[in-house]
This record gives sequence, C-alpha cells and structure tokens, in this order.
Amino acid sequence: MKIGCPKEIKPQEFRVGMTPNAAQEAVARGHEVLIETNAGIGSGFDNDAYIAAGARIIDTAEEVFATADMIVKVKEPQAVERKMLREGQLLFTYLHLAPDPDQTHDLLESGCTAIAYETVTDANGGLPLLAPMSEVAGRLAPQVGSWTLQKANGGRGVLMGGVPGVGPAKVIVIGGGVVGTHAAKIAAGMGADVTVLDRSLPRLRYLDDVFGDTFNNQYSTAGATAELIQTADMVIGAVLIPGAAAPKLISREQLSTMKPGAVLVDVAIDQGGCFETSKATTHADPIYDVDGIMHYCVANMPGAVARTSTIALGNATMPFMLSLASKGWKQACKDDAHLLAGLNVHAGKLTYEAVGTALNIDVVDPTTLLN
Ligand SMILES: NC(=O)c1ccc[n+]([C@@H]2O[C@H](COP(=O)([O-])OP(=O)(O)OC[C@H]3O[C@@H](n4cnc5c(N)ncnc54)[C@H](O)[C@@H]3O)[C@@H](O)[C@H]2O)c1
Repeated sequence: MKIGCPKEIKPQEFRVGMTPNAAQEAVARGHEVLIETNAGIGSGFDNDAYIAAGARIIDTAEEVFATADMIVKVKEPQAVERKMLREGQLLFTYLHLAPDPDQTHDLLESGCTAIAYETVTDANGGLPLLAPMSEVAGRLAPQVGSWTLQKANGGRGVLMGGVPGVGPAKVIVIGGGVVGTHAAKIAAGMGADVTVLDRSLPRLRYLDDVFGDTFNNQYSTAGATAELIQTADMVIGAVLIPGAAAPKLISREQLSTMKPGAVLVDVAIDQGGCFETSKATTHADPIYDVDGIMHYCVANMPGAVARTSTIALGNATMPFMLSLASKGWKQACKDDAHLLAGLNVHAGKLTYEAVGTALNIDVVDPTTLLN
C-alpha cells in the first residue's frame, strides 16, 4: 500500500501522523511511505530521519493526497484537505465528527473510508488511541500548574515539594481516570500532598491498591469538594462523563472560599470545563485570573509537548496502521472488532451511531459492509 502522511495545517498543531520509526516498520512490510516535506519538523523529525527510515519525501500535500491509498494524520482534515480526498481512499486520523456537520458532509461526499482514532476501542472498554493524549495532558497538568503557582505568574508563590521545615503544596485532583491518575502521580512525584476525588468506587479501590500511600483518595461529593478546595493550592479538573458536557464542580461563589493565588487547571475544558469560571485558552496566552484565583484552561494541552505527543500517539496507532496497510480496511476490520469500532464513514455512508444521532443522519451498520 502507498501510505501518505501530510504536514498538519491546523493552527498551532506541531504533531505529525507518522514517526520515522513507524515509517520504517511499514517499509519493512513492503509498503511505500510518502511524507510531505517538513511534516515532522514541529516534532523534531527532519526529512533525513524519514529518508533513513526508507520513506520518500514529497513536495506538496496535493501530491501526497493524489498518490496515497491511505492518509495517516493527527487532526481532522481541514476543508482544503477534504477536497483532496477521493473515493476508495482510506483516512486514519482523529475526526470528532459529532459536533462537526461540515466535515461529516465533506467526508461522505468524498466517498472515502474514514477510521476515527477516537472511537477505536480495546478489550477493557477503553479508548486506546485517546488514552496517550490523556496521559500526556495528565502528566503536564501539575507541571503547568506549578508554573502558574509561581508569584510572577499570579500564583500563591508555593513550591510543590516544599523544603525541609516547610510543608508541600496541597493538590486536589477531581476525576481519577487516565488524566487524573497521571496528574496525581506526577504531582506526588514533585512532592505535593495529593488527594484524588472520584465518583467510581471500583476506580478508587484500584487507585488505593496500585498507589497505596503515594496519594490519598476520597469519594467525590459536592461537600467533599467544597471542604478540600478551601485549603488547596492547586485543583486539577479531570472528570469525564462519556457523551455529556463536563459537570460544573466549582462555582464562581466558591472561589472566594479558596486561598488567594490558588490555581485551577481545567483539563476537562475540551468538554466545556468542570469549573464555572473556566473558558478555553491557548498556549500563546494560557492563564487568566478570576477573583484572585488563577485559571489554566488550554484545550489542546498535548500540543505543548508535540514531540512526546507524536511519539506516544504513533506508538498507539502503529499496529492499527500496519494492519490496515497489510490487509486492507475490510479484512483488518473483520479480524479486529475494536478497529471496526473506529469506522465512521464508508463510500458515502455514515457508520457510527452516535454521530448519526448527533447530526440526524441515517447510519449503516458497519458489520454489513464487511462482506
Ligand atoms: N485539555 C486537553 O488537552 C485534554 C487532553 C486529554 C483529555 N482531556 C479531557 O480530560 C478529561 C478526562 O479524560 P480521561 O481520559 O481521564 O477520562 P476517564 O474516563 O479516564 O476519567 C474520567 C473520570 O472522571 C470520573 N468522574 C466523573 N464524574 C465525576 C465527578 N462528579 N467527580 C469526580 N470524578 C468524576 C469518572 O469516574 C472517571 O474515573 C476529559 O474531559 C477529556 O476530554 C483534555
């Protein structure tokens, strides 16, 4: 198969769909890999790294799209990219179609087959191509939060680990899923006194079994949250209710009960945010102050560490990419129901129930397309 990887064109996107290592694995299986010139530069991979892996460097996105049987990307195709997709071509990337009728319409019109990273599943009921970005955002949250806590950035001027004779920062993590667990691990590693709140008892039992005394955990109620935030230096919002907007767990009135200069890091901002006063910010201007409480609410946190994010995403997508390339999408999806769960669009038909419901479009059962 000819596998094409264009340079990402969405503003502030520095990741790339294929690493040189992924390209090398594909080439070793007899595939041809076409990388748009400088596609990996934002993640620290120059053209020479891809050439050494056996890939070909292509001058323009137009040529990549025109030549490749499968396009591997990071972000959803932008309008100009969607015009270049054609019937029978395979697209493997993040799509997030439910809130995006224009993109959905264009993909259906193109006749391409589109597999969305975010709906591929795993045997544990998880989302293996979303998890790496949650791991990145979770581990980044205490890092950006601790920077925000510094005096010059509007914070309380508290050091995460304290020093001998001075206690550590108090960090509350609301939501103990993928983001919350990684945030708690890093905050505890920095020496902070960490408490994780979650609504799921099985999840709290898991955290207790695995992490023991590394951090505390507590059942999440409005009362527990109200009490804990009064002494917190940092609160990290990491909740998710699948298919719903994030619940608002700290109100504006409650900010006055917190210590001046305390920091809220709202990782759930991509689902609307879990603090009433959260509004999405960018890496260029990430923090703002409401009533003396500093907020960090960047919706695309993994973009700050593009190289780590590219490699983490590439590790997760590579086995699926290789299977699609070696077997073709039909056989690959026949052999793997979790990959089939990623199929969103095929030959002008929508194949993902939740997107159909959100956009009021008829959906075809993807299993009927496999024969
Ligand atoms: N800003 C970014 O760049 C970025 C990056 C990755 C993920 N995210 C977002 O981070 C959030 C968390 O993602 P995840 O992968 O960790 O999800 P997850 O499903 O692994 O974890 C969510 C956890 O929240 C818990 N929860 C739900 N309601 C709660 C409540 N009221 N109180 C306490 N806990 C509650 C659930 O029990 C679950 O354990 C999502 O909104 C996701 O979209 C943002």
